[in-house]
Amino acid sequence: LEQAMPPEAGFSTFAGVELAALGEREGTPLYVYSAPAIRARVRALQAALHGLDAGICYAVKANGNGAVLRLLAGEGAGADIVSGGELQRALRAGIPAERIVFSGVGKSDAEIAMALRAGIARFNVESGAELDAIQRIAARNHAVARASVRINPDVDARTHAKISTGKAENKFGVSIAEARGWFDAKAQWTNVRLDGLHMHIGSQLLSLDPVREALRRMAAFWRDLEAAGHAIASIDVGGGLGVRYREGEQAPDAGEYVAAIREALAGFKGRILVEPGRWLVAEAGLLLSRVLLEKQGDARRFLVLDAAMNDLLRPSLYEAWHDIVRIGDNAGRERIGYDVVGPVCETGDTFASARALPRCRAGDLVAILGAGAYGASMASTYNSRPLAAEVLVDDGRYALVRKRQTFDEMIAGERPATDWITA
Ligand code: LLP
Repeated sequence: LEQAMPPEAGFSTFAGVELAALGEREGTPLYVYSAPAIRARVRALQAALHGLDAGICYAVKANGNGAVLRLLAGEGAGADIVSGGELQRALRAGIPAERIVFSGVGKSDAEIAMALRAGIARFNVESGAELDAIQRIAARNHAVARASVRINPDVDARTHAKISTGKAENKFGVSIAEARGWFDAKAQWTNVRLDGLHMHIGSQLLSLDPVREALRRMAAFWRDLEAAGHAIASIDVGGGLGVRYREGEQAPDAGEYVAAIREALAGFKGRILVEPGRWLVAEAGLLLSRVLLEKQGDARRFLVLDAAMNDLLRPSLYEAWHDIVRIGDNAGRERIGYDVVGPVCETGDTFASARALPRCRAGDLVAILGAGAYGASMASTYNSRPLAAEVLVDDGRYALVRKRQTFDEMIAGERPATDWITA
């Protein structure tokens, strides 16, 4: 896997492709994904899971590009979806329905029906109301839905508050006490087979201690259920495995992570599922952007890029750190402390503050690293900026896997208010 490089090193190719040439041909801002890096990650996780009855359900939300999904499907991955749209993406990319699980705290009737019809592996159920809805829809379709309860284990994942999901005050999952009540009353949901457990305590987890604690609580509950005669066929440990965005950060490796799972679930005879998103794709992607101009303000020195918060929201939303490198040979270049910003009309449109970078000029290319997860998938057209193009690179070649949105495509759904409908 290509590691994030310190900014002073020369950075000019990615998976064997010249970034300068790529930027020239496809324009910027441009998302660039490395196929070998994604393959290396999924294979490393599969190797770590070896010997377990376990499957990887890739969290589509991290990067739902069809080519990325196809690549992962080809490696045998399933999918963790959270909407009808993600279900359609996964199926279209060739991920078999029996490898798809459906998470999320608010599934609509239409989404539940669509997933049932597709024959997905199971629903990760997050509320009593959802369980009732699945029962009603499955009965109407003469189907039996397989379901796991999403447990909220009430542990602090020690990550950013906005992506922490496993504390009692978070909207996700139900308490073990409530879940126990569901199992004891499961006969009332005649069209639901409730035989699994699920958890997901948060994202970008850099410490395994909260994972171990949550697994311990879930495993105790599984043993308790089995003792009470409730057979458990599936335990889904969620996603969340963190990556190293910044020098000095320590991220757990797949081996340590899976060792924690093996230890907690020792003796479990059913199927184990993991739902990583970020860990598989974050470091395999970068956002290539051109410098529009340098601007010396009274207080700060700005580097204004052609990429903005609408393309990559993470720094604005979570104050997330992404390494930024100048493409090309930086030997002997003076280093400057830049505020790296986009053109969007908000002060929050800042990728980095006082970041030491080699001196840049208008027209230079920079790459924002670690942008493969929650980059393009969280993009918008704010400020009427069309969605960026995306390419997949592999062994010196690249494929355009999302063409740049045109202005006409961006406004395609809009209509003048001429046809008024009386409501
Ligand atoms: N499973 C469930 C039920 C989830 O909600 C998530 C992520 C995952 C798996 C995958 O988590 P991962 O392995 O990627 O950490 N936009 C934020 C991250 C939000 C994560 C939401 N749920 C960011 O850019 O950091």
